[in-house]
Amino acid sequence: MATLSTSIADEILALKQERNAVILAHHYQDSEIQELADVIGDSLELARKAKELDCEIIAFCGVWFMAETAKALNPTRTVIVPDQDAGCSLVDSCPVEMVRAFKRKYPDHAVVSYINTSIEVKAESDIICTSSNAVKIVNSIPADKPILFLPDINLGNYVKKETGRTNMRIWQGACIVHTTFAARKVTEARIAHPEAMVVAHPECPGDVLLQAEFIGSTSALIKYCVESERNSFIVMTESGVQHSLRKYAPHKQFYFVTNENCNCSECPYMKKNSLEKLRDCLQSVSPRVELSPELMERARLPIERMLAVK
Ligand code: 13P
Ligand code: SF4
Repeated sequence: MATLSTSIADEILALKQERNAVILAHHYQDSEIQELADVIGDSLELARKAKELDCEIIAFCGVWFMAETAKALNPTRTVIVPDQDAGCSLVDSCPVEMVRAFKRKYPDHAVVSYINTSIEVKAESDIICTSSNAVKIVNSIPADKPILFLPDINLGNYVKKETGRTNMRIWQGACIVHTTFAARKVTEARIAHPEAMVVAHPECPGDVLLQAEFIGSTSALIKYCVESERNSFIVMTESGVQHSLRKYAPHKQFYFVTNENCNCSECPYMKKNSLEKLRDCLQSVSPRVELSPELMERARLPIERMLAVK
C-alpha cells in the first residue's frame, strides 16, 4: 500500500516489478507516462515489440486498437490499458457490419486495413498497414487486384497518390485530430516562421500535406526532425511528439499548429490515460483486453502478413 510520501511514479515502478510488467507507450501519451515507459514508439514499432515480449503483463499506454493488436500478436500475455475508453475516431468510423457488406458486394477486392481498426475489422481484412508502411503494403498487392483501403480517407488518398494506383476505393473515415488541421493555419505558420520546415503525418488532409516537405509516421517525423540539418519545424501531428523532439533535439524550434475545433492538437482518446490510471490498472490488472482465440487467430493472419512485408 502506498504511503503519502510515495510518488505515483514510484508506485508504478514498484508494481511493474511486482507484476513482471512492461510498459509500452505511444508518442501521443502524456510526457509523464512516456518518461516511465520501457518502450516508446509508433503503432508499427509497438506492435513489433509487443509480439516479442515474454513478460507476464503488457501495460499498453495507447489506444484500445493498439492493445488489441498486441494481444492478438502475443495471446498468452495479459494486456491491460489504463483507460478502457481510450478509443479512436477511425475505429468508430468503420463498423465491421459495413465492411462485411462491402465484401459481399465486391468479393474481388483486397481489403487493406489501417491498424486503426477494431480487431473484428482486422479479422475481415487481407492485410493490415500502418502510417509507416502503407505505401509499401499497397505496392505489395498485384497491380490488377482492386483494393478497398480503410478507414482513413486522408491516408488512403495519400497512398493512392504515392502508388499511382487507380483501382483503389477509399473508406470515408477520418482522425478527428489530423483531419481538423487547416491548410490556412499551416500557411499562417509558414508566414510567421519562414525558416521552418513543415513535416506532417499522412492522416492530415491533402491540402495540408501539399505544404509538407516531409510526410511520415510519428516515429519517422521525430527521427527526421532530430537528424535533419534544419533547426526549425512546423509539426503537423498530435502534440505528444514534443516529448521526444525536445528530449533528442533540445536546441531546435518546434511549432505546433492547433486544430480548427479546439485550441490544441491533442488526441482526446490518447489523453484519457493518466499516471493515476496506469498505477490503478497495474494494481488491479484491469481493464484487460479479452478476445476469443478464434477472433485473434483470424486477425493475426493479416497483421502477420504486414509484418512479413520487408
Ligand atoms: P502512428 O502509426 O504514426 O503511430 O500513428 C498512429 C495514430 O493513431 C496516428 O494518429
Ligand atoms: Fe485515432 Fe486520431 Fe487519436 Fe490517432 S490521433 S488515436 S488516429 S483519433
